[in-house]
Order: sequence, then C-alpha cells, then structure tokens
Amino acid sequence: MSNAAEQVEQEEIDLTGANQVIDKYLDMHGALMPVLQEIQEVYGYVPEPCVHLVAERLNVYSSQIYGVLTFYAQFHLEPRGKYIVRVCMGTACHVKGAGRIGDTLKDRLGVGHAETTEDLKFTAEYVACIGACGMAPVIMVNDATYGSMTVNKMNEVIDKYVKMD
Ligand code: FES
Repeated sequence: MSNAAEQVEQEEIDLTGANQVIDKYLDMHGALMPVLQEIQEVYGYVPEPCVHLVAERLNVYSSQIYGVLTFYAQFHLEPRGKYIVRVCMGTACHVKGAGRIGDTLKDRLGVGHAETTEDLKFTAEYVACIGACGMAPVIMVNDATYGSMTVNKMNEVIDKYVKMD
C-alpha cells in the first residue's frame, strides 16, 4: 500500500474494486486483458493507481500495461463522461451534413473529440460508421441512437441530456 504522501500526489482512488478483480484472476494465465477490461467496467476508465496495482500484483511491468492500454482503442486512461455522445463521421453521414452536427456538439459542450466536460457529464467522440447509414446523419448517446439529425435536433438531444442527472 502506498503511504499518505504518495496518495496526495496520485489520484485518490479506492482500490477495493480493482483488488477484487485481480483476486479473481490471480492464478490465471493471460489474465492481463480481462483484468484491465473489468477494472475499466468498475471505474469507467483505467486509473493510473490501478495500473501500478495490476503491475505489482500480476508481476508485469507498468510500461507493458500502458502498451496494452494505448494499443487497444477500447481502453481509456482518463475519466469519461456519464453520457458518451458519438457523432458518426462515416461517408453517408458526412455527405448528409455530419460536419455541422459535430460542430454543434463542439459549440454546446466546448470539448472536441475524445474530450470530456469538466463536470464529467459528457464525452464527445467523432467516430467511423456506426452501421445505421440509412438514418444518416446519426449520433449515439450511450446506447441510444438518433437518426436524421439536424442542428436543431442535435440541440434538442443535448438539452435533454443536460437536464438529466
Ligand atoms: S456512415 Fe454514419 S452510420 Fe454509416
């Protein structure tokens, strides 16, 4: 366990959840990926103190873990918003005005691709085709899909989530 001085410098994270995940996989060969995936499920991202904990307990180098975390797009090293707003920038959506939809999102939230608002409510992402081209331009907020987006509709969707907890 780290001492108090180290804890002030590092993010303050309760490592109980991470320890529980590691406990489950401790004797398993090739445990690194599932451990990191489950830690991300617990925290919403992989906090730095968890990287060091995993390194210590699974006996791998932190640098190796960062290698995995940065190689796979599924992993996030920073906290993410409660609502992940994905604007499709695939060809069909692009042709139908996804650029304006993306700009509207940026204007509203004040953050760009893969950035999160300070209140941790929203993360913006511009993504490749999400497989709903018939409804282009398309956005997703978490698991909900919204098609035939216009600038007005985009503002309405954002308003709706701003009001939600
Ligand atoms: S290009 Fe946007 S859903 Fe396919």
